[in-house]
Amino acid sequence: MTAAQALQEIGLAEIEAAAELSALDAVRVKFLGKKGLVTDALKTLGTLSESLRREAGATLNATRDALNTAIALRREVLTEQAMHEALNSSAVDITLPGRGQRAGGLHPVTLALERMVGIFRRAGFEVATGPEIENDFYNFEALNIPRHHPARAMHDTFYFPDGLLLRTHTSPVQIRTMLDRAPPFRIIAPGRVYRCDYDQTHSPMFHQIEGLFIDEHATMSDLKGLLHEFLRLFFEQDDLQIRFRPSYFPFTEPSAEVDIKLPSAHGFSDWLEVLGCGMVHPNVLTNVGIDPNRFQGFAFGLGVERMAMLRFGVNDLRLFYENDLKFLRQFA
Ligand code: DAH
Repeated sequence: MTAAQALQEIGLAEIEAAAELSALDAVRVKFLGKKGLVTDALKTLGTLSESLRREAGATLNATRDALNTAIALRREVLTEQAMHEALNSSAVDITLPGRGQRAGGLHPVTLALERMVGIFRRAGFEVATGPEIENDFYNFEALNIPRHHPARAMHDTFYFPDGLLLRTHTSPVQIRTMLDRAPPFRIIAPGRVYRCDYDQTHSPMFHQIEGLFIDEHATMSDLKGLLHEFLRLFFEQDDLQIRFRPSYFPFTEPSAEVDIKLPSAHGFSDWLEVLGCGMVHPNVLTNVGIDPNRFQGFAFGLGVERMAMLRFGVNDLRLFYENDLKFLRQFA
């Protein structure tokens, strides 16, 4: 075997072994490039005698041609192979099910609020609203909380420079309703309220629902019956334990706070305060021009976030305001 034939065999073997186009090109450079093995051999022909040169030249040329042909064939194979791989890896499997569109859901605070409003509407209550920016009269004065009354200190009020304020509770809607129309009334007023407070159970903005029932006969026992039924329905607990604990609010007399005891499955095992209520104070009725000798009634106020936390077993109020989709989707 001549040296040229040996080169050819090694070259053909390497061409066959090249698994990718880049490897094939490396083989081409190694044998046929400017400084390739075959090219170098061709350059040495000039040092040979005339007769040897002719023979060696012919075999070297044949080797070069054979390698070129083999490379071209191999390139075709590898190009096709690369194309198939590219097609396969980027292929769309049209038999896969579509990704679909996830339906949105209501915020848990909205869910709890709508649930409560629904229960009261079925009991004949109308929804009333009022502004979030209030003045001192509606938020405090008319509710029997005069200036310097200690109850004001509990409200951590946000004031505007001109003396207006962000309402600290939904109770001013009581006053607006009573000034606006003649009794009897049966209203609930859901809405946002604001207090300068922030921790695990307080946020500077939260929601309340105010209730007001005024006619000629409404009694404390009507109040108890209504709230008892409401809480049983809201928590879907027929044997929910409820207690009315004497308390103080300037706008009601007598006043009570209502505690509930949920089955331990809810994750809260002790008595929990859920709302404040009482018989509307005669001073409040007088402030809005309603005769307290003819009309009477009750009012109540509850925190929507707190009720949502208890119903859904959420232990940190701030979760409601972080807009974490993983949290929110659980309620969708
Ligand atoms: N306004 C009270 C508060 O913000 C809640 C409240 C208590 C409302 C007793 C009432 C009531 O109508 O009778 O904490």
